Amino acid sequence: MLGDYEKFILNINKKTGINLALYKEAQMKRRLISLYEKKGYKNFQDFYQAMEQDAGLLNEFLDRMTINVSEFYRNSRRWEVLEKQIMPKLLQKNQRIKIWSAACSTGEEPYTVAMMMSNFIPLSQLRILATDIDENVLAKARLGIYPERSLNEVPEVFKKKYFTEENGYYSISPEVKKSVVFKKQNLLDEPFGSAYDLIVCRNVLIYFTEQAKDILYAKFSAALKPGGIFFVGSTEQIFNPGKYGFETEDTFFYRKK
Ligand SMILES: C[S@@+](CC[C@H](N)C(=O)[O-])C[C@H]1O[C@@H](n2cnc3c(N)ncnc32)[C@H](O)[C@@H]1O
Repeated sequence: MLGDYEKFILNINKKTGINLALYKEAQMKRRLISLYEKKGYKNFQDFYQAMEQDAGLLNEFLDRMTINVSEFYRNSRRWEVLEKQIMPKLLQKNQRIKIWSAACSTGEEPYTVAMMMSNFIPLSQLRILATDIDENVLAKARLGIYPERSLNEVPEVFKKKYFTEENGYYSISPEVKKSVVFKKQNLLDEPFGSAYDLIVCRNVLIYFTEQAKDILYAKFSAALKPGGIFFVGSTEQIFNPGKYGFETEDTFFYRKK
């Protein structure tokens, strides 16, 4: 007999293609139970039945399960390492750099990559792929309007050069916007591209089970060129990088051998 949550996992998978079994269970359950209790449902089954009738509720569920917080230059010290130590080496070998920001949320991360890269390459020559499973965040990313607090770590020169402020909100400039292409993609279910020089995938792997991470590290490694860099979040060290053909380049940066 399947339990309440196991049945919910199956139903959600059928309805949306999202496999909740690949997300850490205790954490995910806690988030979803707090949502359905707030909405007045007793268990996952009631919650799912209500979702079948109410697209708004399904949307709220999606919003709750995908944790969307982001900011520009998140863990800014790491971005400094990328810019000062890693990019110059990557650019020595290639003039054309292929970049992917995976699980990009509302766009702060790929736009950070674009601004940082503008120190090396004209933005008009840059194309960054940015993907996320959640259409709502992608719509916000394409819009490119942010509250002041997400810009705390943006260097002053870039703030002046690439943002315009109106009523406390900051719009990212069209030239930065044009350098990023946003696309919907489920990392756990869809194929990856290939021959990337840099893949940034931060603050999403922590939500996945060890089994899912194992598969994803191998897929990210296969998607990189030899010598390409995989940049992860600041709680997301890979414990056995060699297993996936990576060597540690710096803390939270892995180089494909
Ligand atoms: C906490 S945000 C991280 C945003 C950004 N990378 C950063 O570090 O600031 C996690 C993002 O992962 C996305 N996500 C969750 N599961 C995903 C999946 N299976 N495939 C693609 N994106 C996923 C969520 O929609 C959310 O936008």
